[in-house]
Amino acid sequence: MLITLICICAYLIGSVSSAVLVCQLFKLPDPRFAGSNNPGATNVLRLGGKLPAALVLAFDILKGTIPVWGAYFLGVEPNWLGAIAVAACLGHIYPVFFHFNGGKAVATAFGALLPIGLSLGGLLIATWAIVVWLTRYSSLAAIITVALAPFYTWLIKPLYTVPVSFLTLLIIFRHRANIKRLLQGKEPKIGKKKP
Ligand code: G3P
Repeated sequence: MLITLICICAYLIGSVSSAVLVCQLFKLPDPRFAGSNNPGATNVLRLGGKLPAALVLAFDILKGTIPVWGAYFLGVEPNWLGAIAVAACLGHIYPVFFHFNGGKAVATAFGALLPIGLSLGGLLIATWAIVVWLTRYSSLAAIITVALAPFYTWLIKPLYTVPVSFLTLLIIFRHRANIKRLLQGKEPKIGKKKP
């Protein structure tokens, strides 16, 4: 019963689209219908610059961290924490408050995985940063990072490999338009205004 309640709370927290709210605050176009049409930090960076993008990134990370950490401190069994992480990401991707039109859950998944340990967080950030440094593609960096996440998790905390693998599949599925643009050479690099 407690787990179900926490999963619902995690889904509702994930459903708060910080990209849409921050864009409203900064009087920017709705990120669901401008740029790449993705309500996430990368698209807000395109639409409004570094400050709103940093706010979106921070809020989206917290949407993953708060439910998982909260559940941990409430004494939830470790093998249920993965389900709570998935619930938060599903909220971000299919938000009940925003017509189920959400983002790709990269930052929210990262936030949900942070409680596993700083070494995992460090590996994920390093992977993302190296790919961005080499290619300037945020989406490619996210895809490669989430593809490696189950392997990193297996090395550090094998118990969470299955839920992390599920998140990987979900996030790669959400990047299918990016994959198509990458293959066509049409994906915008970080710093470019429009896809
Ligand atoms: O985290 C989202 C990023 O991987 C891609 O964002 O706006 O380029 O589709 P976007």
